This record gives sequence, structure tokens and C-alpha cells, in this order.
Amino acid sequence: MNTKIVSTSLLTLFSLCGISTNCPSVCTCIGNQTDCSDLNQLASMDSILNQLPYNTTFLTLSTNNFPAVEPGTFSNLSSLLHLDLSRNILSTLHPSSFSQLNKLDFLDLSENLLVELPVNLFSELRSLTELVLRDNRLKELNPGQFKGLMELKRLDLSSNSLCCLPMYLLDGLQNLVWLSLVGNKLRTLQRTSLEPATDLQHILLEGNPWNCSCKLIPLKHWLEWTLYRGGHVDSVNCSSPTNLYGKDLRNIPMEMFRHCYPLYLETRSSSFAEGHPVTAGSPGDCIRQRYRPVSVRRAAATVVVAGVVCGVVCVLMVVTATYGCIYAMLAAHEQQQLMHGNSQQQQPLIVVKEPEQDEKEDLVATIAKEEEALECAEWMAFPPEVSV
Ligand SMILES: *[C@@H]1O[C@H](CO)[C@@H](O)[C@H](O)[C@H]1NC(C)=O
Ligand SMILES: *[C@@H]1O[C@H](CO)[C@@H](O)[C@H](O)[C@H]1NC(C)=O
Ligand SMILES: *[C@@H]1O[C@H](CO)[C@@H](O)[C@H](O)[C@H]1NC(C)=O
Repeated sequence: MNTKIVSTSLLTLFSLCGISTNCPSVCTCIGNQTDCSDLNQLASMDSILNQLPYNTTFLTLSTNNFPAVEPGTFSNLSSLLHLDLSRNILSTLHPSSFSQLNKLDFLDLSENLLVELPVNLFSELRSLTELVLRDNRLKELNPGQFKGLMELKRLDLSSNSLCCLPMYLLDGLQNLVWLSLVGNKLRTLQRTSLEPATDLQHILLEGNPWNCSCKLIPLKHWLEWTLYRGGHVDSVNCSSPTNLYGKDLRNIPMEMFRHCYPLYLETRSSSFAEGHPVTAGSPGDCIRQRYRPVSVRRAAATVVVAGVVCGVVCVLMVVTATYGCIYAMLAAHEQQQLMHGNSQQQQPLIVVKEPEQDEKEDLVATIAKEEEALECAEWMAFPPEVSV
């Protein structure tokens, strides 16, 4: 009698909690997919999650009115591979909102109200390959925001309010192949911000107010390089300056950036500071040093080579002139002596000596020309403006 009551009440309790069914009453479960989207009721996220079996792998919590994800909310669901939190009103995430989800492959946070993200929010998501942050209100990102996402292949940052990308943002994302920055407020973008993502094949940059000033030339070169490697780049339409309004950066001939050339080397080093504040002695300095030496070394080498060539040419010219003078003096002196003595030996001397002199002068002239040609070739190979 007693045991029967206990067992029935336990059964009722279990079914209420949804433990026996493996699917929360408000959700739909098909195969391994647990769909708790569009619940249209005031269910709290915790009450739903508490009913889920620990081995849930595919969970949709989309289109509810969840305002926040509390710390450790998903800590009992470490089997999750796919988590969809899109179309909620999330504005606050705790640094450990997604801790324990080290198997998670896909995370969708699109269409929420996120303005900023905690620095270590994604740091435990070691298996994540796709992260969707589309349609939020993100203004800026921390340099280490995506640190540790070694497996990340796709990153969607479209339709936010990003004004700039931190220099280190993509560091360590060697597997990233697809990046969207569509519909943000980017005016400029450092080539060095993109360079760490060496596998990047698709980059979407449309819908930003690009300022196609001299500072965007490195980005233009990088885009051309990506296209050359078989990558895909959408249009990068300039909003300013006015003479380039509406033009696609990829198709603007370098001729239009002629005025940039004298400043180009300078721009490379100073443009770094634009966009986001970086204090002196910060890690940013390392990046600058990491990417600058090639250009600096080449420029220095060009100057040294040009100097050496000029020096050699000058020395040769002086030697030729001296040789000519001394020879002329000796010849004149000898001629004078001969004129006093035997005048018949005058002819052979001149006949024998003259071709020798011409020959030597020719040789010297040839050497000088060769040096000049060499110098030319050096400048063609490393013109200071292009050797960057
Ligand atoms: C979860 O575990 C239960 C048994 O505990 C099993 O019946 C179910 O198939 C598992 N679900 C998944 C998605 O592995
Ligand atoms: C995880 O499961 C344990 C044991 O069932 C429970 O006490 C705890 O409240 C759960 N944590 C969360 C965040 O649901
Ligand atoms: C574009 O960039 C140039 C050079 O950095 C700057 O002088 C100019 O004010 C910028 N224009 C806009 C509209 O941001």
C-alpha cells in the first residue's frame, strides 16, 4: 500500500519533470533534435534545460524572449553539438555562459540585442566551427574575443555596428575560411588584421562606409592577393572621398592612388594607430614590428646598393680623368723632347699610343655604362614605393 503510493507519486513527479519522456513537454523532439523554439509562453530557460536529458546534442531555443544566459546554464549539457539561441532579446551574457560546452560545433546568437561580449565568453568552445553573431548591436570586439577557437571555420559578424576590428582579432584562427563583416560601420580595415587568418577564402565586406584613402591601399593589395589565390571577395564600395564614391575598391586602378606614393611607407607605419586606440608599448607594437621589417630592410638595401654603385661610378670617373691628364702631360712632354731631338720617332709614338688610349677610354666608358645599367636594374627591382 505504502510502496504503491510512493511509486505512483514518483512516477507523476518524473513525468512532470519530463525525465521519463526525454523531451520537455513544451518542446518538440525529432530524432536527436530538441526544438524549444517559439514557445510563446513565459517558460524560463532553466526550467526547460532542467528537463533535458544530459546527452542532448542538438538544441534550439530560438524565438523566445530570453534576456540573458546565466553562468553555467549549460553545464549539464556537455554533449551539445549545436546550440541555437537566435531571435531572443539577449543583451547580457556572463563570461561562463557557455562553459563546459567543449564539444559544441555550432553556436547561433544572431538577432539578439548584444552590445558587447565578455572577453572569455567563447574561450572554452574548443570544437566550435561556426559562430553566428549576425544582427546584434556590437560596437567593438576585444582583441582576444575569439582566442582559442582553433577549429573555427565560419564567423558571421554581419549587421552589427562595428567601427573597427582589433589588430589581434583573428590571431590563431588558422582554420577560418569564411568571414562576413557585411553591414557594419567600418571605414578602414588593416591588412594586418586579416593576415593571421591564412586560410581565409571568402570575405564579405559589403555595406560598410569604406573610406578609400591611401590607408586602404594595403587592404586593396590583400584583396587582390586573395582573389589571385582563388578566394572570393564581394564588393567594397567606397563612401569617401567624394571622387571615389560608389566605386569598388577592387576595381579602382592604382593610378588613382598616385598621390599616395610619397607617403606610402609612412602610411604603412602610421596607419596602424588608426581605428582603435593602441597605447605605446602595448602588444600592438609587436605586430607593427612583425610586419614592417621587410619593407624597411628592402628600402635600406636599395639605398645602400644605390650608394655603392654611385661611389664606384664616381671613383672610375676620377681615375679616368686623372689617367687622361697624366697621359696628356706625359705625351706633351715627350713630344716636346722629341721635337727638340729626332722628329721621325714622333709618328710611331702617337700611332702606337693613340689606339691604346681610345681602347682604355672605351673600356672605362663601357664599365660606367654597365654600372649605370646595374643601378637601373636595382631601382627597377626594388623601387622604394613598390617594395613594400
Ligand atoms: C540519450 O540517452 C538515452 C538513454 O539514457 C537514449 O535512449 C537516447 O537515445 C540518447 N539520446 C541521444 C541523442 O544520444
Ligand atoms: C545539473 O544537474 C545537477 C544534478 O542533477 C543539478 O543538481 C544541477 O542543478 C544541474 N545544474 C543545472 C545548471 O541545471
Ligand atoms: C578618410 O581618411 C582620411 C585619411 O585618414 C581622413 O583624412 C578623412 O577625414 C577620412 N574621411 C572620412 C569621411 O572618414
